[in-house]
Amino acid sequence: MLTEFLGQQLQLKPADGGATALALNRQLYLLLKKAILDQVLRHGERLPSSRVMAAALQLARNTVMSALSQLEAEGFLETRQGSGTFVRFKRPANGQPSSPAETTGNSRLGFRQVSARGQRLLKQDTANELEVQPFTQGLPDFSPFPVAVWQKLLAKHWRLSYASMLDYNDTGGFKPLKRAIAQYLRMFRGMRLDDEQVLVTTGTQQSLSLCAILLADPGDTVWVEDPLYWGAAQIFRANGLHMHGIPTDAQGLNLVLSDQAPAPRMVYVTPSHQYPTGGVLTAERRLDLLRRCRDMHAWALEDDYDSEFRFAGPQQPSLHALDLQDRVFYMGTFSKTLYPGIKMAYLVVPPDWVSAFKRIHYDMNRPGLLHQQVAMAEFIELGHFHSTIRQARATYVQRRQALLQALAPCLGLQASISGAEQGLHLCLHLPQTLDDVALAQQAQTHGLTVRALSRYAIARQDLRGLVIGYGYAPLEAIQKDGPVLAQLVVRALRHRHA
Ligand SMILES: Cc1ncc(COP(=O)(O)O)c(C=O)c1O
Repeated sequence: MLTEFLGQQLQLKPADGGATALALNRQLYLLLKKAILDQVLRHGERLPSSRVMAAALQLARNTVMSALSQLEAEGFLETRQGSGTFVRFKRPANGQPSSPAETTGNSRLGFRQVSARGQRLLKQDTANELEVQPFTQGLPDFSPFPVAVWQKLLAKHWRLSYASMLDYNDTGGFKPLKRAIAQYLRMFRGMRLDDEQVLVTTGTQQSLSLCAILLADPGDTVWVEDPLYWGAAQIFRANGLHMHGIPTDAQGLNLVLSDQAPAPRMVYVTPSHQYPTGGVLTAERRLDLLRRCRDMHAWALEDDYDSEFRFAGPQQPSLHALDLQDRVFYMGTFSKTLYPGIKMAYLVVPPDWVSAFKRIHYDMNRPGLLHQQVAMAEFIELGHFHSTIRQARATYVQRRQALLQALAPCLGLQASISGAEQGLHLCLHLPQTLDDVALAQQAQTHGLTVRALSRYAIARQDLRGLVIGYGYAPLEAIQKDGPVLAQLVVRALRHRHA
């Protein structure tokens, strides 16, 4: 890679056919020095041998050696006998960061040069800084995913590859994949839809972004659940929307509490399993939500992120299934059913919105990855999707049971569990006087990642508890670490009264 980078920049011949370009050894010296100073080449990095560099750059070996020895004399390179030539340059401690990757909230750059919107986004909690370890939530078990099958399908479609698969995709997704997803949603989520209403996206985040861009303007209001999923909150913030939190209870979003709220353009809901508390929106509330959306000329954004995993009680059809007015934008994802890094999800839009969404999806995201989409269509058609879900579900049944058992000693008047009937996490509610952030931090010191419920609040002051995942950690880890977590909770509850 280094030789290609250098090769592109070396001026082998005078550009204008006139005066001679800088001597090649000098050019190479300057290019390498700049790459070292700019940290393109990092301290400790090994350079290709002078022979390899000379051959790749089509230069005389002496030319290369002259440039390297000059840099070595200046202390930028170090030759170690028998192992090669290495970069020897660390940026001074007071040097200004030069890479954009360092412009985060934690860097020396600080917030000063970040846009006001960027600052608002950087101030929010992020899962990005949490260790992945027992009780990390949001992650599925990766083991049921049949890697060998997936590899075979990808390899097959790369072999059959044709030019259009290498281009951007302007159709909202590979047709057979849209067909397979639509069929799945008709059968398992009770939805009525045409294949063409499906758009393939790289995740719920992208689906939400498209909705935020096309359905609202900066300054508009979106009603959100309070407590709220961090990912959705960041998308709405980034799009300049005003989030009005509507409190949830054991049955999800409680719209009775919305009567004084400013009228929204959109209402964001997780009806199957409120994130993070896990309430299931009752049929009555679903119908009420649809009626209100109609009356307010607002759109419902249904995030159906984990409905494949239901462990107790009947599965409700989606909100979309009840919608006779084309008011619902439905979002599903393969992040939980397969794995998050697959970066594939789907957005179902009402028929009248298909062409606008396709167009803006193309303009904003330049979709592609068609080989993956072709492979996914076949993966579903051949039944692998369903068998992966089936296997994962069996695993989660055991993990969930183990976690519930471990947490039993915490339960009583002061603590209760919600949301354990579905999904990959549950919520342990704790008394308002307990510091759940401190408790989560304490768990962290024991190698356990749980999240404080209060961190998900939009305006509510009453939320205290822990959001605990059982999807990712193996059964043995839950059996071993569950009692440790329970003990921490019990101690925190007792300490309150001490
Ligand atoms: C409420 C909710 N929606 C959606 C997702 C999945 O998002 P994505 O498809 O962007 O991976 C998650 C993942 O944790 C989630 O918790």
